[in-house]
Amino acid sequence: MELALTGALRTTGAVRGFTGEPVDDATVAAILDDARFAPSGGNRQPWRVAVVKDPAIRRQMGALMRPIWEEYAGAQAAGYRAFAFGKSVDAPPAAAPNMLIDEIETVPVVLAVAADLREMAIMDGNVTHRPAVVGGASIYPFCWSVLLAARARGLGGVLTTFLSRNEAAAAPLLGLPEDHALVATLFLGHPTHQNTKLARKPVNSFATVDRFDGNSLQ
Ligand SMILES: Cc1cc2nc3c(=O)[nH]c(=O)nc-3n(C[C@H](O)[C@H](O)[C@H](O)COP(=O)(O)O)c2cc1C
Repeated sequence: MELALTGALRTTGAVRGFTGEPVDDATVAAILDDARFAPSGGNRQPWRVAVVKDPAIRRQMGALMRPIWEEYAGAQAAGYRAFAFGKSVDAPPAAAPNMLIDEIETVPVVLAVAADLREMAIMDGNVTHRPAVVGGASIYPFCWSVLLAARARGLGGVLTTFLSRNEAAAAPLLGLPEDHALVATLFLGHPTHQNTKLARKPVNSFATVDRFDGNSLQ
């Protein structure tokens, strides 16, 4: 059990290409049934999931994602770190292919994930010199559990956040309830390729003793 979990943690890479094999509702429900055991602040479980099947809605989601993707692609191409705190970007959007957006109608599973802000402990919500981030800790473990639960069934997927930048336009399309944030769109399906060799920084690049300016742990 321990080895299987460790193996999954170390090898679950993002999957953006899917075979045409469908994923039935029972499988999606089983994935969500596993993922609901994710932790959240105060165990308030603020997640809501829309399983988006309607091709017209998907198309419109894609249309709302595309300008954000092009904004990202343009910034990256010009050497900026797109959407980073405290960094302004002076670069035009760039058209670039994106399998998820280009083929959103045929991706086997598209999940829009929302979070009920009234149920989230946003411990840094009163901080003014930077964006609040701690609330995300009550929703993104759930999203990651969806991806791991999918992997356990031989599926792959990826978490995306394009739509959050266009939340105002996406809200009526998806019937986003009041006081909810649109936090992610998850894409799932049978992978054309499951990347298991992941490029991640070593522990000694981020772990220190006592203080963040302390000695390296290793
Ligand atoms: C918060 C978050 C936002 C992400 N947004 C996107 C996205 O908008 N589009 C996308 O293709 N991948 C997105 N990803 C996936 C990351 O690009 C991926 O996890 C990372 O590059 C590692 O890739 P790997 O697992 O293949 O090594 C996102 C991942 C996270 C955790």
